[in-house]
Amino acid sequence: MQEEHEIEMVTCSAPVNIAVIKYWGKSCEKKNIPLNSSISLTLNQDHLKATTTVATSKGFESDKVWLNGVKQDVVNNARLQACLNEIRSWARKQAARRKADAKELLKISQKIHIASQNNFPTAAGLASSAAGYAALVFALGQLFSIEGDLTRIARRGSGSACRSMDGGFVEWIAGTDEDDSIAKQFVPEMHWPELRVFIIVVSKKKKDIGSTGGMKNSVETSSLLQYRVSDVVPHRLTAVKTAILEHDFSAFAEICMKESNQLHAVCQDTYPPLLYMNDTSKEIVKLVHKYNDFYGSTRLAYTFDAGPNAFLFTLDPFANEVATILNETFGFNSGDKFFRGLSVKANEPLPYEC
Ligand code: DP6
Repeated sequence: MQEEHEIEMVTCSAPVNIAVIKYWGKSCEKKNIPLNSSISLTLNQDHLKATTTVATSKGFESDKVWLNGVKQDVVNNARLQACLNEIRSWARKQAARRKADAKELLKISQKIHIASQNNFPTAAGLASSAAGYAALVFALGQLFSIEGDLTRIARRGSGSACRSMDGGFVEWIAGTDEDDSIAKQFVPEMHWPELRVFIIVVSKKKKDIGSTGGMKNSVETSSLLQYRVSDVVPHRLTAVKTAILEHDFSAFAEICMKESNQLHAVCQDTYPPLLYMNDTSKEIVKLVHKYNDFYGSTRLAYTFDAGPNAFLFTLDPFANEVATILNETFGFNSGDKFFRGLSVKANEPLPYEC
């Protein structure tokens, strides 16, 4: 008869984040240290999140991972290995410090099973790895009762994941090494309750070149990237923080759009070029500028990550009109197979469901 083993498990969810000041390029690939600091807004809603269950048991023979029900290669996944190694090493150190009992020590030595589910398209430029690694590291932290800043471990999984570990606007401070490259909340969820986000899923297709490979090529070939890191980002970081603190939507929106444009200019300056935006993305850019020009003020802003899908920022009083225009132009909510729009609030409590 087979021996029965106790299974301990924890389930957590983490949302995606939208980068306002973009992370593009690393100073150290192994430790995943970025060339510049970045700022994002964590979406606090149920539509775009990763839900991850981690389990451990004496009966597990190896670490295993399923993503959206499909078993993944664990052994050759260096980032996942880095996260698991870091978590186990932290767990061991902290357990020793608090003189943990034998049962707890045994738990740390056991293998881990991980099952993660995204409720949105994976690897389509919608920050799926950010949500995925944030949920994973958060869940592992709970499983092993780890204390301390886990953002540096999430960063090892995927850089932008460290910003999904907290709500509101979050800054990833570039730092120079393992321990000082961390994410910190800049302002909490409730800071800017009028802010609204629309997500336009232009394509659910997996992108040809992922962010990691794309930014590596940019670092190697784009001279614009070097100028951006040294001369542009530092000013924009300061300016966007002021705009956020002062609820200055016009200033915020302008920086947001210029950041997106520069990211994609760097991508075009990469050799061979990285073409993440498609014709529909460009139509969205034109529509946003036309809308703002019509009112003679900035009411709507776009930003695109490494994919064609658009994130739009607006304010509460304009949200209904924006929704109507997007609906009329792109037909979202109308059952069209290419477009789906989600209007989400940016000011609800964090959906970490532990
Ligand atoms: C364009 O965090 O996916 O979304 O650290 O290599 O996993 P890795 O990259 P990743 O890159 C995100 C790039 C971006 C901009 C951003 O989120 O800041």
